[in-house]
Amino acid sequence: MSGLRVAVTAKQFGTAPVLADIAFELAAGERAALIGPSGIGKTTLLSLIAGLDSAFGGQITRPPGALAMVFQTPRLLPWRTLAQNITLAHPACTPGRARALLDAVGLAAAADLHPEKASLGMQRRAAMARALAVAPSLILMDEPLVSLDAASSARVQAVMVDVLDRSGATCLIATHDHGQALAVADRLLELGGSPARLVSDRRLPLSRQARGDPRARADLQARWFPAPS
Ligand SMILES: Nc1ncnc2c1ncn2[C@@H]1O[C@H](COP(=O)(O)OP(=O)(O)OP(=O)(O)O)[C@@H](O)[C@H]1O
Ligand SMILES: [Mg+2]
Repeated sequence: MSGLRVAVTAKQFGTAPVLADIAFELAAGERAALIGPSGIGKTTLLSLIAGLDSAFGGQITRPPGALAMVFQTPRLLPWRTLAQNITLAHPACTPGRARALLDAVGLAAAADLHPEKASLGMQRRAAMARALAVAPSLILMDEPLVSLDAASSARVQAVMVDVLDRSGATCLIATHDHGQALAVADRLLELGGSPARLVSDRRLPLSRQARGDPRARADLQARWFPAPS
């Protein structure tokens, strides 16, 4: 199975250039974090990759198969329960499968809740379960942990890693949180400058299993992202 090939030569909004000369490939099953400060163009790049915006110069080749996008806001249908939101994602998703997916993200007891009764962290987990319902070959996630408190963030991060492990999909996760990037990705793609370009492309030296250890991650974070003195 092939992965993702991105070659964006130029993207602008009006006359303002936002992205320039961004080229990278992800192998099938590879997991990369797209990092960079707020406003640099992470969401813009994800939208191009998802095919939601075709007004750009360059070419993007997605792997064959389904695409799942997990947006920064969970975007669940408010008039449907969490379980119904998942069955609606794919015609072949039965209520039983939806419940199994909700169970996998720790939401078995919340299957019949409407999104407004669920916390943001629960809605994010439901959105991740929904992503799995389409059996995607490519998963794009936009700031999946932003605006969560520490406990909820840790829970959603653990669920996210589990969801990505189960899917085996090629993944690109936009985040401005280095610790989170180190916990979920095999590779860090960093955007910087104006218009934004790829300023670094680093493969993590530790295995996924080794990175499960918070001390190993903290050590890597201290070396790769030293706090400004
Ligand atoms: N639809 C739009 N029209 C005009 N400008 C836009 C549009 N969407 C984004 N921009 C601009 O493009 C730049 C990149 O925005 P983008 O949302 O991609 O950044 P980001 O890295 O995702 O930021 P954050 O971390 O805050 O989510 C910003 O300057 C933003 O104002
Ligand atoms: Mg964004």
